[in-house]
Amino acid sequence: MDGSSPPPPSTGRDAASSAGVRVAPLFYRLDLVPGAVPALQQLVAAVGDVADPRTPWYVGDNLITYGRSCGFLTDPRFVAAVEAAAPRDSERAMAWRTHTLCWAAENCRGVAGDFVECGTYEGYSMAVVLHFLGGLPERRCWLYDLFDPTPGPGVGKRLEAHAPDLYDRVCRRFARWPNVAVTRGKVPEVLAAGAPDRIAFLHVDLNNAAAELGALEALFDRVSAGGLIVFDDYGWTGYRAQKSAEDAFFTRRGLSVLELPTGQGLVVKR
Ligand SMILES: C[S@@+](CC[C@H](N)C(=O)[O-])C[C@H]1O[C@@H](n2cnc3c(N)ncnc32)[C@H](O)[C@@H]1O
Repeated sequence: MDGSSPPPPSTGRDAASSAGVRVAPLFYRLDLVPGAVPALQQLVAAVGDVADPRTPWYVGDNLITYGRSCGFLTDPRFVAAVEAAAPRDSERAMAWRTHTLCWAAENCRGVAGDFVECGTYEGYSMAVVLHFLGGLPERRCWLYDLFDPTPGPGVGKRLEAHAPDLYDRVCRRFARWPNVAVTRGKVPEVLAAGAPDRIAFLHVDLNNAAAELGALEALFDRVSAGGLIVFDDYGWTGYRAQKSAEDAFFTRRGLSVLELPTGQGLVVKR
């Protein structure tokens, strides 16, 4: 940065192609700011088709940017990985978050250890990552979730797809990759029954502070130097308890979490 004004945004993105990821302009927790809904509706109406990958806007997942390249949206490899995972609109809205994960996973390929996700739900994010990495045949990939089949609310539980067949559906989703193990159980307790000794990439997405801290206590020392840890909800105001617990955990170890505009948190293990 040289302190001068940034260049004016161009009217479109670099890749003048419509073959990109269409981002669904979805927002959550609009109740936090009175008047947010009409304001966002006005914005979306004024700028036209915000889902078009050629627009200079990124609108979705509580993130609005203007004049950013968003090169991932038209990167053929990322586009193919997203489309291969058959995204819902709510998943299309998370394209930037998913790009962060693909970037992190790609950059962990040179680091010793396996790939781990704590909190898999329907498996969308790791399905995109595995498509992006061509299945990651050289490593094992460990996916953990309660896959709670009981109806009703629960800690860190998303309700839409928590049904008796969720675990089987997720197993089927990953069956094409023999190096992927889908494990049903409560984190951190289930990790004692089977988890890798060395970890290169760790995605933590449990939506509750106690479980995320438990995952860190169990797994952090196994993450190799240069390995990356991505927290899905670190910067979301609805999950402040997670941020507080994780900040304290890393401060004790002389590290800190980078809060990303997507709401994710990123840690580089030293
Ligand atoms: C937001 S979802 C994960 C979404 C997934 N990572 C993705 O990006 O597609 C959070 C998941 O964490 C799981 N979960 C919450 N607490 C848990 C615990 N203590 N042990 C295992 N899974 C847990 C829930 O069952 C839920 O499926």
